[in-house]
Amino acid sequence: MKKIILVLLLTTIAMLSTGLTLASGGGYPKSPANVDVTDMASLQRGAKVFTDYCLSCHSAKFVRFNRVATDLGMTESEVMDNLNHLGVKFGSTMTAAITEDYAKEAFGAFPPDLSLVARSRGVDWLYTYLISFYADPTKTTGHNNAIFKDVGMPNIFWKQEGVKKAVYEEHDGEKVFVGVEVVEKGTMAPEEFDTMIRDLVSFLSYIGEPNQTYRKSLGIYVLVFLFIFFGIAYAMKKDYWKDVH
Ligand code: HEC
Repeated sequence: MKKIILVLLLTTIAMLSTGLTLASGGGYPKSPANVDVTDMASLQRGAKVFTDYCLSCHSAKFVRFNRVATDLGMTESEVMDNLNHLGVKFGSTMTAAITEDYAKEAFGAFPPDLSLVARSRGVDWLYTYLISFYADPTKTTGHNNAIFKDVGMPNIFWKQEGVKKAVYEEHDGEKVFVGVEVVEKGTMAPEEFDTMIRDLVSFLSYIGEPNQTYRKSLGIYVLVFLFIFFGIAYAMKKDYWKDVH
């Protein structure tokens, strides 16, 4: 019995670690986003960054303003005055006004809906993407992105973050792209900029799964229940079998 349990345990660990390795993928290294979706102040700031800077091009069509108000502890007027720039109804979804034709002409690609992007790409990818734009004069936008090569999205935060350039290293006579570094300071201090991006990624993570905080807290209760129930079941088993042995 003990052997079977051990084999099952080892197989599970092996499967989990292969899954993680596959999920992490190759390519440009991702920086950890370290977001905290239970931090309401951070989510509220992130919502403002999203509606100020992203909603002009990207929709979040699964997200309603009134749901954001309830979940993030904001009043109707706070949401309507600070987040709802297009003046749509309180119960409306977050929809960008940009048309597909215009976007394709201007950026060569349509800005995808961001409701589920934190789940499809992962928060670390998003965080890395948002801090990895660098100057590239060969591009029409003047920028490229280290983790999303030849991206059509303009570098939204170049004023705040400052201008970054690509860093190359020589490996066996070949020029290898290794990362980006700031060459011109932005209007924000680096820590301030970093907090803003983490707030934004937190908000994107929240909209990807608005119930995640509840789900996680429920998970703990379920585990506590199972732990206690195991004790009871084990005591019962001992009691039932005591005359048999
Ligand atoms: C001026 C329009 C515009 C604005 C503003 C804008 N984006 Fe984009 N974004 C785009 C376009 C266009 C693409 C598609 C790029 C491509 O496919 O080459 C894109 C792509 C993306 C992607 C990649 C999605 C994927 O999975 O492929 C993410 C993530 C993203 N944007 C996040 C943001 C965030 C966050 C903001 C706000 C800070 C923002 N964008 C603001 C135009 C914009």
